Amino acid sequence: MPTMQPALAVPAIPDPMDAPALRWGILGPGGIANTFASAAREGTRSSVVAVGSRSRDRASVFARRHGIARAYGSYEELVADDEVDAVYIASPHSEHHEHALLALHAGKPVLVEKAFTRNIAETEEILTTAERAGLLAAEAMWSRYLPHYDVVRRTVQDGTLGEVVRISADHGQLLWPDGPQRLADPALAGGALLDLGVYPVAFVDHVLGGLRDVRATGTLSAQGVDITVGMTARAESDVPALMSCTMAAADATAAAVIGTRARIELSSRFYEPSTTVRLIAPDGAALDEYHPDPVHGFRFQIAEIARAVSEGRGEPWSVPWEATRRVMGILDEVRRQVGVRYPGE
Ligand SMILES: NC(=O)c1ccc[n+]([C@@H]2O[C@H](COP(=O)([O-])OP(=O)(O)OC[C@H]3O[C@@H](n4cnc5c(N)ncnc54)[C@H](OP(=O)(O)O)[C@@H]3O)[C@@H](O)[C@H]2O)c1
Repeated sequence: MPTMQPALAVPAIPDPMDAPALRWGILGPGGIANTFASAAREGTRSSVVAVGSRSRDRASVFARRHGIARAYGSYEELVADDEVDAVYIASPHSEHHEHALLALHAGKPVLVEKAFTRNIAETEEILTTAERAGLLAAEAMWSRYLPHYDVVRRTVQDGTLGEVVRISADHGQLLWPDGPQRLADPALAGGALLDLGVYPVAFVDHVLGGLRDVRATGTLSAQGVDITVGMTARAESDVPALMSCTMAAADATAAAVIGTRARIELSSRFYEPSTTVRLIAPDGAALDEYHPDPVHGFRFQIAEIARAVSEGRGEPWSVPWEATRRVMGILDEVRRQVGVRYPGE
């Protein structure tokens, strides 16, 4: 009998267009809120029905751009809107805690941008509040909702790689010192780790789980935010994990899972659906490839949250609360080791 060539697993993420419709409110109409609004409109059955800004003018401009019915000049008005089913929190990390609690106290489920909060204490308060209120609170680590992350995780779980001996992920983008001010500002919980480093940490956690025992070293700016961080940790089954981030240079943003029988490589933009997942034999032979659909990656998280809310679940399957807790715990410990503290912590 011929032996079957090892292959990548098939993803089991449903079509976003099959998810129920949810009426969203966007809190904080900045850069990433545009991506969310376009993906909801063009890639799901959900819609953005309202937007809230600290400025009515900014809310109105955003609403016009995306065809949104209602524009509010305060976040309080947004969360009080009876026709908003769920709120997408798209403010800077430093504000997620306050804004998520504002929405939860108004009875709205929340999808909170990454990093979920500044620290684990703020995360716990949001999750406890959501649990008590019977409402969903979810981390918008959009990559974890994507089919190609499911391909990687399932392929590892199937044993196709043999014994996993190492996992790695790096995320470098040139965003400092001339990029968005948000990243340079300690008061807005700036730095590479919470914006970029959260991706390698979440990737490792998604594929293997159980992240612990992190060791980190890094360089800081004069203002006291991290510019570059190198990290090692142990994932499930004591597999060594190597992770890094920098906002001072662009790197390949590659990730790999290395096993005794085969390895998986995502050689660029591992966290985006523009990447390719490659399964490679120990001798370098190409065994299989998975090419994600690169259009509107955010549609998968929007659809999964709509499913969770309609089924009365408090957390999405792709990013359960325990995963958010593990990731935030690692980020806290990394910041402690590299010496980054935000004002008011
Ligand atoms: N998933 C992704 O691919 C991705 C990519 C980029 C960023 N993000 C995340 O999304 C969040 C927002 O990032 P962004 O790049 O969209 O930021 P941004 O362009 O600066 O937008 C943030 C918005 O938050 C509002 N805001 C509320 N309080 C604020 C404060 N104290 N200072 C500044 N703005 C404040 C502002 O809107 P108003 O003042 O008009 O209310 C602002 O437009 C961050 O957590 C970031 O990590 C995710």
